[in-house]
Amino acid sequence: MILFEEYVHELESYATAALAGNNQALEGIDFTKLLNGGVGLELRRRVALEHRQQIGAFFTGEALRLSAFGPINSVVEGPVWDPACGAGDLLLSYAEKLPILPDIGDTITNWGNKLYGNDIQDVFLRAAKARLVLAAFARGARNLDERNLSLQGVFPNLLQQDSLHTPRDECPADVVLNPPFISLIASRDCEWGSGSISAAAVFVDMCLKVASPGTRIIAILPDVLRTGTRYERWRKMVAEHAEVKRVDIYGPFDPQADVDVFILELQVRHSRMLQLGQEGPWGLLNNSLQEKISSYFSVSVGPVVPHRHREEGPELAFLHSRDATPWGTLDQLAPRRRFTGTTHYPPFVVIRRTSSPSDRNRAIGTIINCTEPVAVENHLVVCKPNDGRIESCQSLLDILKSSSTNDWLNNRIRCRHLTVGAVKEIPFPYPPSPSE
Ligand SMILES: C[S@@+](CC[C@H](N)C(=O)[O-])C[C@H]1O[C@@H](n2cnc3c(N)ncnc32)[C@H](O)[C@@H]1O
Repeated sequence: MILFEEYVHELESYATAALAGNNQALEGIDFTKLLNGGVGLELRRRVALEHRQQIGAFFTGEALRLSAFGPINSVVEGPVWDPACGAGDLLLSYAEKLPILPDIGDTITNWGNKLYGNDIQDVFLRAAKARLVLAAFARGARNLDERNLSLQGVFPNLLQQDSLHTPRDECPADVVLNPPFISLIASRDCEWGSGSISAAAVFVDMCLKVASPGTRIIAILPDVLRTGTRYERWRKMVAEHAEVKRVDIYGPFDPQADVDVFILELQVRHSRMLQLGQEGPWGLLNNSLQEKISSYFSVSVGPVVPHRHREEGPELAFLHSRDATPWGTLDQLAPRRRFTGTTHYPPFVVIRRTSSPSDRNRAIGTIINCTEPVAVENHLVVCKPNDGRIESCQSLLDILKSSSTNDWLNNRIRCRHLTVGAVKEIPFPYPPSPSE
């Protein structure tokens, strides 16, 4: 972090010059870069990826900011709170909609009454304050009457705080949020999850609890919260507390990130309730038609976790994901291992669980047609035809290969692991007839 602190120090010296009316010191500064992706770039350059992942620090770039806040009305009426504000990128989006006054002191005082932010890292808050001052300067505000303005005194509502562990009263501000995507252990009173859960989901939960009725919450969130079976209860809790106004699937957080995000806009309800049909447009594309894979196949995850399961029990044919030839048919399996858990009798189809929306095919299948039970590894989803016919497996492969399945899956689930729930729901329009 020391190298990033040096950069923040530089930002602070520019902001100090802007407040002091030392306009010459700011000649030639590229404000566009500094107020858009520049700070995120410096963070990437100066702080190792491992450390950024540990603390969940990834600043929102301009394109994503535009997608999240572009549709929002051009005038900001009430105050705005970012409980994980980082270097202030989301607050800067709001500041763009705040009025600019000729005097920089007046502008900053006015903005300071509207912008609330917290972050656990003091160095990010310092960057946020300096950038907000520079945003006012870039839009033309100047120190007109040589007032003595200090950087320490500006933006009194930007405070270093652990937002998840600071008790607070009802919050009267709208909320903007790109929370850390790290994992946390669920607290005992968490009503929607246990064990390791996403900090992003906990942040939304916390915001819903402190937000007053009518509050708007706009959040950039990992796609697993939208689609993951593990977060079904979280989605229900969200829809009980708030009306789900917008669910926009965005894609990768930025060109460097390997996590897909969506934009969620909520309006907090007056009382907690959920009426039928108000679960929200999560874009889950639940396939209520009969024609889906689960109507014709039983779908499950391969049970063998090689590093966890001891080699004991009968020796069996073993299918590892690396041996599942894409789109092929395996009539024999040479690899063997001992295993006491569930086995699968061919014929069946396995689908690789790991895939990405940028892959040519989301669900790559292989037919297994040997004549003995198989122990299937955990990176594969097993689809066993109810009619026990190889032709049904072939039909399934055709469906998996089709562009309509790719499009459907890319909307349904954007995270890297296909879930059993998503595979079960894949439309399966031409079921094999028994007479075929
Ligand atoms: C993904 S970054 C987003 C920053 C900023 N909102 C943006 O969009 O550019 C998440 C931020 O949350 C902060 N953070 C992590 N845990 C926190 C906590 N418990 N309370 C407050 N901030 C936290 C990190 O320091 C980081 O700056």
